[in-house]
Parts: sequence; C-alpha cells; structure tokens
Amino acid sequence: MAILKIARMGHPVLRQVAAQVENPADPEILRLIRDMKETMRDAGGVGLAAPQVFASLAVMMFYVPPSRSTDDPDDGEIPLTVLINPEVIPLGDEMVGGWEGCLSIPGLQGHVPRWQKVQYRGLDEKGDVVERVASGFHARVVQHEYDHLIGVMYPQRMEDMSLLGFAEELRRDPPEITLSGAESGEEQ
Ligand code: NI
Repeated sequence: MAILKIARMGHPVLRQVAAQVENPADPEILRLIRDMKETMRDAGGVGLAAPQVFASLAVMMFYVPPSRSTDDPDDGEIPLTVLINPEVIPLGDEMVGGWEGCLSIPGLQGHVPRWQKVQYRGLDEKGDVVERVASGFHARVVQHEYDHLIGVMYPQRMEDMSLLGFAEELRRDPPEITLSGAESGEEQ
C-alpha cells in the first residue's frame, strides 16, 4: 500500500485519453486500485481517477457520502465504487449546475453544468459488471471522474469562468447563482 503523488492541472498526463485496461485481474491493476483508495482517503476526496496518480489507464473510483445523498432513488448514498473501462451515457437532456473541486486543482472550486441523469457501466475490481442509473451529485461525481479518463478537467466544462475561484473566498462571500446546486464542492 502506498499514498501516491497527485498530478496537478498542467501536467500532460491529465490531458491524455487513458488507455483501456486489457486485463482487469492483473495484479498491477489491483495494486493501483488499492493505492488509489488509500490516496483518495488520505487526500479527503470523494473521487479519484488513475490519470490523477500518473497512470493513464481507464480506472476511476468515487463514493457518495450520506451528506450528499438525497431522496432521489438514483442519488442516494453510494459506497466506494471502482469502475474499470467505464462508459457513461446521458439520460435525457436536462443539465444542472453545481460546485466542484478537484484534487488536481487544489484550493479552487468552479460552478459546472453536468447532465442531471446518466447511466454508467464498468467493471469493478472483482471483474463484476457494475451498471447503474445516477442523478444529481451521484451523476456529477461520475461525470467528473469519467472526464479525467478522456483528458478533460472541470474548468473545460464551465460556461461562466467568473464562477471559478478559491474555495475559501467563495465560502466567505458566495456568488449569487440562480441555478440549483450551490452547495460547496468536494474535491474529486
Ligand atoms: Ni478531479
């Protein structure tokens, strides 16, 4: 087990499209997953993707803490979930704005539009298929992590760059936002 260094925005590994994992049972992949879990816990994030630890592979993980779950059946508490070679498909055309942070952009937050509802599919670390429908924060964290696998960081998804700032300042004096999702953004 090891706590890995986290790549910061600007490093080329975060702009690359990650390679598909050919053998999810490879001990090297399982070790990467164990180290990513430890790194995410240590950093206090709710999600982490392999490119953030300098491994350009289609592996991501996330969870939805009780504090971010809602009564929506697709946006309840989700235990730590690993997805290898994931696919994410938007359901419907509704988008919703919400605050996001990223462990690769420490200290900053931005208000990012995301699909309200998505379906996703991938393999977990046991090689079992995980297939779920997600809404709200659950859908947001999945889209954020999946974007890391295609070389996209959350500022690239933003429509209003005036809503990018230091979390400390935004908390002190929150901008008025008419869209929903004005809660503080955990780092992912
Ligand atoms: Ni991130």
